[in-house]
Amino acid sequence: MSNENTATPTTARTAGPLDVERLVQELTLEEKASLTSGLDFWHTQPVERAGAEVPAVMVTDGPHGLRKQSGASDHLGLANSVPATCFPTAAALGSTWNVDLLDRVGKALGRETRANDVAVLLGPGINIKRSPLCGRNFEYFSEDPVVSGDLGAALIRGIQSQGVGTSLKHFAANNQETDRMRVSADVDERTLREIYLTGFERAVKKASPWTVMCSYNKINGTYASQDHWLLTEVLRDEWGYDGVVVSDWGAVSDRVAALAAGLDLEMPATGGRTDAQVVAAVRAGELDEAILDQAVRRHLTLLNRALPALAEPGAFDVAEHHALAREAAAEGAVLLRNEPVDGTPVLPLDPAAAASLAVVGEFARSPRYQGAGSSQVQPTRLDDALTEIRAITGTEVPFAAGFGITAETSAADDALRAEAVELARGAETVVLFLGLPASHESEGFDRDDMDLPANQVALLEAVAAVCSRVVVVLANGSAVTIAPWQHHTAAILEGWLGGQAGGGAVADLLFGVRNPSGKLTETVPLRLEDNASYGNFPGEFGHVRYGEGVLVGYRYYDAKRMDVAFPFGHGLSYTTFAYEDLSVTVSGEGPTASLTVDVTVTNTGAVAGAEVVQVYVGDPQAAVERPERELKAFGKVELAPGGTRTLSFELDARDLSYWHPVLRRWVVEGGEFVVSVGASSRDLRGSAAVTVVGEDITPPLTPSSTLSEALAHPVAGEIIRTAMAQTDGTSAMPLDEGMLALAGDMPLRVIAAFDGMLFDEAQLDRLLAASGAA
Ligand code: BGC
Repeated sequence: MSNENTATPTTARTAGPLDVERLVQELTLEEKASLTSGLDFWHTQPVERAGAEVPAVMVTDGPHGLRKQSGASDHLGLANSVPATCFPTAAALGSTWNVDLLDRVGKALGRETRANDVAVLLGPGINIKRSPLCGRNFEYFSEDPVVSGDLGAALIRGIQSQGVGTSLKHFAANNQETDRMRVSADVDERTLREIYLTGFERAVKKASPWTVMCSYNKINGTYASQDHWLLTEVLRDEWGYDGVVVSDWGAVSDRVAALAAGLDLEMPATGGRTDAQVVAAVRAGELDEAILDQAVRRHLTLLNRALPALAEPGAFDVAEHHALAREAAAEGAVLLRNEPVDGTPVLPLDPAAAASLAVVGEFARSPRYQGAGSSQVQPTRLDDALTEIRAITGTEVPFAAGFGITAETSAADDALRAEAVELARGAETVVLFLGLPASHESEGFDRDDMDLPANQVALLEAVAAVCSRVVVVLANGSAVTIAPWQHHTAAILEGWLGGQAGGGAVADLLFGVRNPSGKLTETVPLRLEDNASYGNFPGEFGHVRYGEGVLVGYRYYDAKRMDVAFPFGHGLSYTTFAYEDLSVTVSGEGPTASLTVDVTVTNTGAVAGAEVVQVYVGDPQAAVERPERELKAFGKVELAPGGTRTLSFELDARDLSYWHPVLRRWVVEGGEFVVSVGASSRDLRGSAAVTVVGEDITPPLTPSSTLSEALAHPVAGEIIRTAMAQTDGTSAMPLDEGMLALAGDMPLRVIAAFDGMLFDEAQLDRLLAASGAA
């Protein structure tokens, strides 16, 4: 799908801000409608009438680099775009767990956006990795909403600090590519709130993105673009969002309904067709013009935010951004495994021993460094690991491709494998680059399985048969199955899709120029079938049921006591860290409760390194089923050998709360909470149990409440017990343990309907009134 932009509008360089209220008053109905949809693929519409000029501005993808198309346009990454730094994808950026670094990457993205006369960069994407199969997982940060929200917020702050906007996407419950423009994500409210909306809420509240992009899919049968509850009640009324809501490209099904629901800007252009629908709906009295005015007001406010930077675009330093991309890729790579061979962990490699090294795997010279689709950028440079390894070692390290990554090159697999095995036979250490070919994962479709291609696994087995020191470096956008072949390796470095400087970053890590400090933000399960969404992904007949509820990612593996290949939060270092002196103090209660968590971390190894300290909270006594532990805070600390730092985390009431499905609000239920700190979700280094005084979470009684619920109610329970104490012994239902076991689940209205049982209908009405029921 592409179209040629013949006349690209020039962005007005206005002297001062637009007078929003005057324009809202003076623009015609048609002009106002036009401001709420696109001019073409990437521009908003201008108004060019004398005295009421409104400039057009450009918005472009994407999350980890600028994809500015100046010729043919499309939203699938097909046509070319201007050169821009391809930073590591979100899968890699997420694994850094480093908010300061993401802020710096954001600033660089912002500078490139600004230098290219673009007003809004369409990212970050923070959808939850519900299944490892989602083709777009590489564009998302995590299976956990706290990591997603906080890293998304850091990137937004960085980008927007340069005077350009962001688009937080895809709002919401867009967790697969299969049928993405139509499927209904069928998900209960508690799960939505706790898992799928929390990241958006954190990013909105912490970083105020200039725009939020609604997703293509439906949620419980309603298109996100037309969901008033989502776009207005939750996003604006509850979270206080005041920016523009823009549609994903082509996500609007009914423009008038979308505008009424809170969607301010439809993209891309519809050639005036849907603007005319808006005008007609206002004229027919079907759409309140005040709603259109409000969308226009938000659009003009967005322009006012963008215009100063557009008037002074500035420039960026290509080399500096490339160096930052290398630093970020190195921080995002995760050292999954590093086993001792002859008593010493195989990594880092000694550059001086490079003569005994061989590099195998096509990805070493043809890097897979970004994903396909709307996020695909044209890099300013491209490093490959083979060249970088040769540069660091100063040696022409020998190389064999080992396998093909296209249909044509794979045809020669047997010969390529034989050649690689011969090379490996003479080497002491083989660094083997494996990964998913581009055809396996992309925007637009999901994977069918989690496996590496069979030709690569066969190569690994053949190489391992002749060499005992095999280091595997992975390039993939989301978890792949590792368990079946990890025993053939001495070390595994997960490099993700590391951006244009990923090759250099991998070389830095292999030779200890940098110390790995990335940690998994998604669990690597033993097998696909272990994943919580298995059986409910990607759905059928237009519906996908989020049957696992809140037990997503590690929450599920923990609940089921399942072994995993590598747990959420895992990542090794060339040094070691000790955790001491955990202390947890409670202040306040109920909605004002908060916890202060302090822990001291020491670098106990011989080299400098950084540790990601993770804080988890469990609520074992809750009235609803809650995950055993959930990440609530994290911090990254860099320490010299022997260095020590005390980290302090503040958790608020929300960090202790769950979404009450009946009260439909966040509640802090009193009782014991278990706070753990650790180096991963399964490497907890300290735990403390604290008691928190909760709030009243008694749901209102109704005729359908059960006897047990009524007895647990402070007022109704007392009335029933008193009444029972006064029975003359002739009651058919004495209130004792046995009776409760039998009748505890009976609704009050059923009890009242039985002759002679506890109370009649008139008494029930009085009971409900006394207990405060509406
Ligand atoms: C993608 C968005 C992207 C938009 C514009 C859509 O297909 O889902 O993430 O920003 O295209 O390219």
